[in-house]
Amino acid sequence: MTAQTADPVDADRALKAKHRAMWALGNYPAVATELISELGPVLVEAAGIATGDRVLDVAAGPGNTAIPAALAGARVVASDLTPELFERGRQDAAERGVELEWVEADAESLPFPDDDFDAVLSSVGVMFAPHHQATADELVRVCRPGGTIGLINWTPEGFIGRLFATMKPYAPPPPPGSQPPPLWGNEDHVRTLLGARVTDVAAERKTVRIDHFPEPDGFREYFKANYGPTIATYRFVADEPDRVAELDRALDDLVRSHDLGGGVIEWEYLLLTARKRA
Ligand SMILES: C[S@@+](CC[C@H](N)C(=O)[O-])C[C@H]1O[C@@H](n2cnc3c(N)ncnc32)[C@H](O)[C@@H]1O
Repeated sequence: MTAQTADPVDADRALKAKHRAMWALGNYPAVATELISELGPVLVEAAGIATGDRVLDVAAGPGNTAIPAALAGARVVASDLTPELFERGRQDAAERGVELEWVEADAESLPFPDDDFDAVLSSVGVMFAPHHQATADELVRVCRPGGTIGLINWTPEGFIGRLFATMKPYAPPPPPGSQPPPLWGNEDHVRTLLGARVTDVAAERKTVRIDHFPEPDGFREYFKANYGPTIATYRFVADEPDRVAELDRALDDLVRSHDLGGGVIEWEYLLLTARKRA
């Protein structure tokens, strides 16, 4: 380790730069718009977003939740570590006739004052920030007393949770102190993170139906081309053809084990809403 990365601030900056580069790989906006676009409207409805609300979408990517919130009449800030993803979001927002503010921001250190938003939302987003408590503290801090925190996160047991578990032996080792993303899909974990600062917690497991990949290798090739974490995992073992072939088989087996028939898979997520104590 160099003297530079031994400094915790520099080390965190380097880690976040790596995460940003990973999410900019491939074509995440394709995944968001072609596969899971229904998640945003689900979260906006569950959080009760109304005309005039000031809403923050954290780890918004191309605006899967932010844009539906704006269409519901809210004044929306879409924030993300990876501003490369905003370009597609800006285009989509313009096509759908809404204006949003797009702000580059780390979920663990949001550049907004305390109590700034009526609602703070994140759809399969904040789960990817490595330090869960720091992230939860920021979500609560920027929400006004009485305001809503609304989250959608992949569950550890669901398809995407299992995808991360399957890729883990082939992926770069996680940095010290980081926690696994799908833990955010565990209701008890999120309740503990938010703690006594919130009330009226409502949690429900739901699924999004994916029927885009009739053959198992269809899913594998799509994710290898478009999804940053999968691309980064394959790059890590690229020099070991046996490991690449093993990972190919592991992903195909994962798909087969979840196939409900004809390639249909339901990806499970946790939908959780809570109110910040007044
Ligand atoms: C799976 S995508 C979800 C994007 C969007 N919310 C959606 O519903 O499609 C995960 C997002 O988390 C963002 N992200 C990862 N780490 C982050 C961090 N520390 N702070 C803010 N955003 C982060 C990535 O840049 C990426 O846009």
